[in-house]
Amino acid sequence: MSLGPDAVNALLWLLHQAQQTGWQWLDAWGLTQPLHGQPGWPFAHRLAAEYLLNEPGQSRRLVLALAALLLLSLLGALAWRWRRARGWLAGVALALLALTPWPEWRLLVRPTVPTAFHQSPNGFRASSIVQGQRTYLAHCQRCHGADGRGEGPDAPGLAMWPPTLNGSLLWKRLDGELFWRIRHGLQDRHGQSTMPGSRLSDQQIWDLLDFVRAQAAGQSLRQTGGWMHPVPVPDASISCHQGSRQLSSLRGQRLRLVLTGGQGPVATEDPRLFSVAVGQDAADLDCQADNEELTQALAILLGVPPQELPGHQLIADKFGWLRVRGQPGAAQWSEDDLVCRTPGMPNPGNPAQAQASPADGLDAIIRRIDSEPVRPQRGGFPH
Ligand code: HEC
Repeated sequence: MSLGPDAVNALLWLLHQAQQTGWQWLDAWGLTQPLHGQPGWPFAHRLAAEYLLNEPGQSRRLVLALAALLLLSLLGALAWRWRRARGWLAGVALALLALTPWPEWRLLVRPTVPTAFHQSPNGFRASSIVQGQRTYLAHCQRCHGADGRGEGPDAPGLAMWPPTLNGSLLWKRLDGELFWRIRHGLQDRHGQSTMPGSRLSDQQIWDLLDFVRAQAAGQSLRQTGGWMHPVPVPDASISCHQGSRQLSSLRGQRLRLVLTGGQGPVATEDPRLFSVAVGQDAADLDCQADNEELTQALAILLGVPPQELPGHQLIADKFGWLRVRGQPGAAQWSEDDLVCRTPGMPNPGNPAQAQASPADGLDAIIRRIDSEPVRPQRGGFPH
């Protein structure tokens, strides 16, 4: 028997909290070194959350082991207070030690870097994605390729072929781990450099990370028709009837971004969604974003050249995750437009529910994004 996905997620959340709290205490006692503007991680290892995620059997062993350790300390306390029972308490402790299915401790941790838990100061802004793209084209493209697949012009001459940045690699690592590797480079087991370090500023590297994640999302949408990992709405300023505001301030509502300038019927307001027109053409929606950076960032996220953007629509859930893509020319919404789904949820949705929804299909989609929230992860930890 192993733990179900919800139990594993709860365990990882608890471990993550324990790890973070321990680290904050060390920081409060002055036992961490500040570097790159944030307190560093003082250990060479961290909990291997992604291993536990993939091995629910080991998660179960870990839970049993933690329970056994708790019991052992209880037995220790009893033995200290209750001298005469020491003999049989020791017997119970030995039996517990022998019978507990201990996990493989060495697999529960993995090597990491001093910036492991550094947080990006960016908050995934459209401007940082666009800035990151410039840095990428100047410094990374020659090896990793214009589309991030690792087929840049210099790649064939390298000792090791660069990995594709569009697979699951980026999500297996913590942001701070990628930051460190891009800054300091990578070596193989013999200490030979495989990727050179860079002299980029901290800000340039955080921008690069926003860009490579956005590019990976766009490439995955192109190739598989879906986003494997949840993508947030890139933040930018927009103008609304009440004045200018940030897209991120609309969190808590279902947000629709309508790329203007396309052929076909003009999008109108919809009471189920908060609608923002993106592009130069005026549209009679709740807000408008005539913001070149937002347009470019959305082109990267959708994996299309900017001239193909008009007519696209995107819908984000109340937590700010992009979930639905409407393609130009499509007259109706269908559940195939749900490009970011909860793993394991079937598509198309329950036919009985689909039948009950009105003709435009949007009700069924809204029901699904409300009832099937997505859980982003970094390095196996809940993000
Ligand atoms: C000289 C070629 C070259 C350049 C330039 C280069 N890379 Fe790499 N990159 C590689 C190779 C080769 C690897 C695989 C190294 C390994 O696994 O030991 C790699 C690995 C990576 C990884 C995966 C790291 C991991 O945790 O496994 C990321 C992310 C990455 N590169 C991003 C970048 C970014 C961003 C830039 C631009 C600042 C860049 N690279 C510049 C060759 C290069």
